[in-house]
Amino acid sequence: MKDVIESLGPVCAVIGAQWGDEGKGKITDILAEHFDVIARACGGANAGHTIVVNGKKHVFHLLPAGCLHADKDIVLGSGMVIHLPTLLEEISRLEEEEIDVTDRLFLSPGAHIVLDIHKDIDRLLEEQRKKKIGKGIGTTGRGIGPTYMDKAMRTGMRLESLWESTTSIKKMLKDHGAILTKIFNIPFDLERELAAILKAKKKLEYCLIANITDTMSTYLIEGNSILIEGAQGALLDIDHGTYPYVTSSVTTAAGALQGLGMAPQVLTSCIGVAKAYCTRVGEGDFVTEAISKVADRLRKRGGEYGATTGRPRRCGWLHTPHLRYAAILNGFTHWNITKLDVLDEEKSIPIGVGIGKKEKVAYKKLPGWKKKTSGIRKFSDLPHNARNFVKFIEEETGVPVAFIGTGEGRADIIVNNIQQ
Ligand code: GDP
Ligand code: IMO
Ligand code: MG
Repeated sequence: MKDVIESLGPVCAVIGAQWGDEGKGKITDILAEHFDVIARACGGANAGHTIVVNGKKHVFHLLPAGCLHADKDIVLGSGMVIHLPTLLEEISRLEEEEIDVTDRLFLSPGAHIVLDIHKDIDRLLEEQRKKKIGKGIGTTGRGIGPTYMDKAMRTGMRLESLWESTTSIKKMLKDHGAILTKIFNIPFDLERELAAILKAKKKLEYCLIANITDTMSTYLIEGNSILIEGAQGALLDIDHGTYPYVTSSVTTAAGALQGLGMAPQVLTSCIGVAKAYCTRVGEGDFVTEAISKVADRLRKRGGEYGATTGRPRRCGWLHTPHLRYAAILNGFTHWNITKLDVLDEEKSIPIGVGIGKKEKVAYKKLPGWKKKTSGIRKFSDLPHNARNFVKFIEEETGVPVAFIGTGEGRADIIVNNIQQ
């Protein structure tokens, strides 16, 4: 473990390599122990990161999974879009468990505020898409697209508004609401939005930092290490994903650094997180999607239901061209292959190796191992065929597999010594 942790260096990003839900939360929680600062950079409460610690399940939407470690600083960057009532709820859930985060939570004033009207617009746009082209994007309904739209229009409200007086917040909201109601012909509940912001102001105003770049560079100058928890996945990236069936933020390592105001060259490692198979929530192409009987089996074994919306996830197989693409896009230095245990019962494991339309994709079938992998702690103790499966991913992508997930608990991980 020690060698692998050392190979990560002081600034490590954990980035999803597929369509999200790869298990970023679990590896962040495990690695958090070895870092001083845990940061989220982009996205919002569309993310749902589940971890299981001592048999207890914790779900994070806005705070990084690493915040269960009581002595770590928590940073939310400028690239994020934050629904304040959701953040307050997440904080108070932790407080119920006697985990206090507000005294070590640092919020960038540049992060944008998700209002309830953004969620209403999100729903409205989905309904319109369904009417017009028969299907929506399948968004999480968390107001993500409309908030980033507002940001790009340069009409959005940022966390820095929490510093303002009640009168000035009210005026900002009123002006802002007027623009959105005019464009979308949708009602705006000024009093409700105001009450939510004032409640957040009371609790979070003192968590606001002056400037995210100064904060992050000071951490580094003072010798602190930083773990960045990515959200979503490479194929959901607004620029490089399967547009338009993507989210509205930059989900790559570059986006994470941008969201935290950090220069690209400070990153010392980037862990690509990929399931041993593949899932997707929402609409859009999924060339290695399995036929329904097989997808149902994977869904059942992998518990593949969204942590944010409860929707059943579409299930299928790994696709090595996607893994290579994600590795190049993000500069992965290590893989974390998660949920290997979900494949324990499979007789043979198809892996998409070609590109093209769904029916045309070429597969390589690797033999299954038909043995329980949960509980195994050493790579050499894995069944022969499971080791070959892992080696196949390394060969196809040129990136070493440093971590292998074999269950949902903190201990269910194999740390594989890699040669750098
Ligand atoms: P994230 O969004 O990338 O953090 O992933 P999610 O939390 O949405 O989904 C991953 C799910 O798989 C969670 O319920 C985790 O508890 C679970 N999980 C993570 N790693 C493993 C693993 O190695 N094996 C099994 N069986 N479950 C895992
Ligand atoms: P984590 O961080 C899986 C998907 C939605 C939808 C598309 C757009 O848990 O991996 P949005 O609400 O962002 O406008 O929805 O993106 N999506 C995710 N899928 N995991 C996520 O986050 C996701 N965040 C967004 O399902 O298809
Ligand atoms: Mg998730």
